[in-house]
Amino acid sequence: MEQHNIAVIVGSLRKDSINRKVAQALIAATAGSLRCKIVEIGDLPPYDPDLDADAPTQWRRYRSEVAACDGILFVTPEYNRSIPGALKNAIDVGSRPYGKSVWARKPAAIVTASPGGVGGFGANHALRQCAVFLDMPMMQQPEAYLGNVTDDKFGPDGGIADAGLNKVVGAVAQAFTAWVGLIHAGRAALAPDSAGSDGA
Ligand code: FNR
Repeated sequence: MEQHNIAVIVGSLRKDSINRKVAQALIAATAGSLRCKIVEIGDLPPYDPDLDADAPTQWRRYRSEVAACDGILFVTPEYNRSIPGALKNAIDVGSRPYGKSVWARKPAAIVTASPGGVGGFGANHALRQCAVFLDMPMMQQPEAYLGNVTDDKFGPDGGIADAGLNKVVGAVAQAFTAWVGLIHAGRAALAPDSAGSDGA
């Protein structure tokens, strides 16, 4: 079966981010079926349409990395009941210039992790709102609001040390693999000649 390339976007810039650790666990859990890679967003200058005539190198690097992928996995904390500014900036940079969005039609999933009990529900749905406009087929289930994700849920190597968290991450990984396969197979069946030409 074809192995799809997935851009993993982590909404936290923090070195010891729990979301980055969850992202790494998802990458490991999908290793047999997807080729997942974190696309970094921390160096992107704030989006300014005036800069698009001669786009900054960081935007070019980032846009081409995301455009080359077949799907997107967002793993993010919640900031003030929404998504972190760095992630919103990354969404905006990827969405322009008009008509050249790197997001359109790419199957995607959202995982939010927080030490709090609500598990980043607000961020998860704020990001879903963006995804509707960006025309991204978004995985609906399982919903992944990972609450009570504290540092002690991870081992010294950064791997998940908690059986419950590990089980949820495994279930998300399995569902996302199936979702990416389903969307791409459906597209190929509907329009065989255009299969694989997504990303405009
Ligand atoms: C937070 N945090 C937070 N948590 C939450 O569950 N809901 C929220 O609205 C917020 N708001 C918020 C705002 C700001 C500016 C910061 C810095 C933090 C706490 C947050 O979930 C916690 O710091 C996580 O550890 C952040 O994720 P990473 O960086 O560990 O991946």
